[in-house]
Amino acid sequence: MYVCICQGVTERQIHEAARDGADCLRDLRRQLGVTDGCGRCAVCARACLTEGRAFRQGENASRAGSDAGGW
Ligand code: FES
Repeated sequence: MYVCICQGVTERQIHEAARDGADCLRDLRRQLGVTDGCGRCAVCARACLTEGRAFRQGENASRAGSDAGGW
């Protein structure tokens, strides 16, 4: 699904950016150009970023858990 029509940025791209370390809307703007046009995508982009960050944190937690019991 397109989140930012002006820049042609999709939900998937935002999730990937979040997994790669984007932490705020400013990071998305710098990396993908989100909100550089009309700015109407800001709320949806922030929601997608939150989802992506949650996924990243879940991955890190499960990785730490599997590392802890590595015998
Ligand atoms: S929809 Fe993202 S800047 Fe216009």
